Amino acid sequence: MAKLGKDFIAIRDLPKAHLNYLLSQAKHFKTFFSRPNKQSPALRGKTIANIFFEPSTRTRSAFEMAGKMLGAGIMNLQMSATSINKGETIIDTVKNLHALGVDVLVVRHHIAGVPKMIADHIPIPVCNAGDGYNEHPTQGLLDIFTMLEHCKSLKDKHVTIVGDIKHSRVARSNIYGLTMLGAKVTVCGPPSLIPMGIESLGVKIETNLKKAITKADFINVLRIQIERQQSGHFPSLREYNEVFGITSHSLAYAPPHTIVMHPGPINRGVELSSEVIDSDRNVILDQVTNGIAVRMAVLFYLLTGAEA
Ligand code: CP
Repeated sequence: MAKLGKDFIAIRDLPKAHLNYLLSQAKHFKTFFSRPNKQSPALRGKTIANIFFEPSTRTRSAFEMAGKMLGAGIMNLQMSATSINKGETIIDTVKNLHALGVDVLVVRHHIAGVPKMIADHIPIPVCNAGDGYNEHPTQGLLDIFTMLEHCKSLKDKHVTIVGDIKHSRVARSNIYGLTMLGAKVTVCGPPSLIPMGIESLGVKIETNLKKAITKADFINVLRIQIERQQSGHFPSLREYNEVFGITSHSLAYAPPHTIVMHPGPINRGVELSSEVIDSDRNVILDQVTNGIAVRMAVLFYLLTGAEA
């Protein structure tokens, strides 16, 4: 197989063979979780720098856990406490981290394209941990990995993505990966939160939630970005919950085997009811655990270029 490339910026750019390869490697790394000694020396001597310009619980911690399980050193930079605050540019900052001996950068930024811009200026690998509305490729991978724990193949499986599709990097990475693997993807949400032209990515639009989930094998529910609600994309959070919320009432319109997913963080009582969050209909915490295996696969590949 051809080399994956220096960086991991987007699922959109990934050939299908590489997507399948990372998924199979993640399966291998998940076997580490049940070993008495979970640590491997595979990346001993390597240093990973997590540079997050936006808050994160799951992604940053999972990259840290993944790096530690592979024996790497981890540097978590508190970006508000770096010299960027004194006027240093991001490019100068990452060049300095490279000079300090960092081997791979994991970058989250609120502006789309920043991880790629960094990757174009330094010789070490860069992994995108979420950039603006663009992509969150390791989240896409872990969502697909989690679905594949419940079916042999995603070919012709129905996946409905519900919520703020317009502002969601998770939706985009899911759509690229799922359509590549042959899944039938439907997006559902208020018309104001569905971007024009999204059908060109090979998805169906359905603004009626009940119709959107009738055949769903998986419902991937997105966070309503309350911070963007001031711009008035829908009348109120209560109304959103009534029309698009996944609750035991709306789930009655889905098949009994439908699995509910959410990338986190969740707004309880907005996009998902507490009853669904606390039930066995969802695999939300499995997604979090699988996030470690997927990031082990990505870090191992970026740092060694080899098969585990
Ligand atoms: N899913 C996700 O990206 O969560 P965090 O923002 O906590 O990393």
